[in-house]
Amino acid sequence: PPGNRYEAENATISQGVVESNHAGFSGTGFVNYDNVAGSYVEFTVNAAAAGTATLTLRYANGTTANRAMDIAVNGTVVAAAKPFNGTGAWTTWQSTTVSAQLIAGANTVRATATTANGGPNLDYLEV
Ligand code: GCU
Ligand code: CA
Repeated sequence: PPGNRYEAENATISQGVVESNHAGFSGTGFVNYDNVAGSYVEFTVNAAAAGTATLTLRYANGTTANRAMDIAVNGTVVAAAKPFNGTGAWTTWQSTTVSAQLIAGANTVRATATTANGGPNLDYLEV
């Protein structure tokens, strides 16, 4: 079943802006990462119990360049330079998943751009 959805526009954003000019997003918008390495979105997710979780990130990348990001959970990178390849258009949204261990209670999930192109446009995280 789909998990809890955490909208990127409600997360903590470093070097990015909330926008809504490309259709197809969930919620009220998406995060447009600044096109620099190190820009990030950090979600706080609550887990009822410790264990393995599937993290689903929905994004769009209207370029042909991989906008790779490090995915960190509670400060530890669990997927280094995870590919966020082109989706064909900024209005074409796709999902990619990461498996990670969560602790019971509050967890942070941070997606940090690793290239000078910045991240893709990020719609949400589902856990
Ligand atoms: C365009 C697009 C943005 C996107 C940006 C980018 O400006 O409208 O939504 O974030 O390209 O290349 O990162
Ligand atoms: Ca951008």
